[in-house]
Amino acid sequence: MNMTGGGLKNCRVVNLPRVQDSRGNLTFAQDFDQVPFSIRRVYFLYDVPAGSERGGHAHKSLHQFIVPVAGSFDVQLHDGEKEQTFRMNRPFLGLYVAPMTWRSLRNFSSGSVCLVLASELYDEDDYYREYGAFIKAAGKP
Ligand code: TYD
Repeated sequence: MNMTGGGLKNCRVVNLPRVQDSRGNLTFAQDFDQVPFSIRRVYFLYDVPAGSERGGHAHKSLHQFIVPVAGSFDVQLHDGEKEQTFRMNRPFLGLYVAPMTWRSLRNFSSGSVCLVLASELYDEDDYYREYGAFIKAAGKP
C-alpha cells in the first residue's frame, strides 16, 4: 500500500546505494526501500531534442520516482503553493514525486535518459493536463 501524502512537501531526493568496484558502478532501487511505493510500471525519456520540455502535468494519485540514468535535466515541481527546481545530474540521486504535484522537465543534456518508476499502470484519467483544473483540485490559493 502506498501511504505518502501529496504535494511538494512530500517530494524528496533519495540517495541510492552505489556498489562500486573495478568493473564499474551499480545502483539499485527497490519497493518500499529506496522507493516509497510498489513499482508497477517503468518508462524512460531519451533522444529529447535540445530545448524540449516534457511533463507539464500533475497526477491525481500516481507516485513516481525519477532517475537521471544518463546526462542531466531539471525537474520543476509545483503544488499550487510552493515551487522548487531540482537539477538531476547524478545517476545515484533519484527524486520521489508525490501525487498532486505539477512537474515540468527541462534543459535535457544531449544523450540524457530519464528513467521513471511509477506506482500504477498508465491511466490517462489520472492526469491533470490543464493547470487551472489542477490548481482548483489542489485547493491552494
Ligand atoms: P506524457 O505522460 O504526457 O509524457 P511526459 O510526461 O513525459 O511529457 O505521455 C506522452 C504520451 O505517451 C501520451 O500520449 C501518453 C503516452 N504514454 C503511454 O502510452 N504510456 C505511458 O506509460 C506513458 C508515461 C505515456
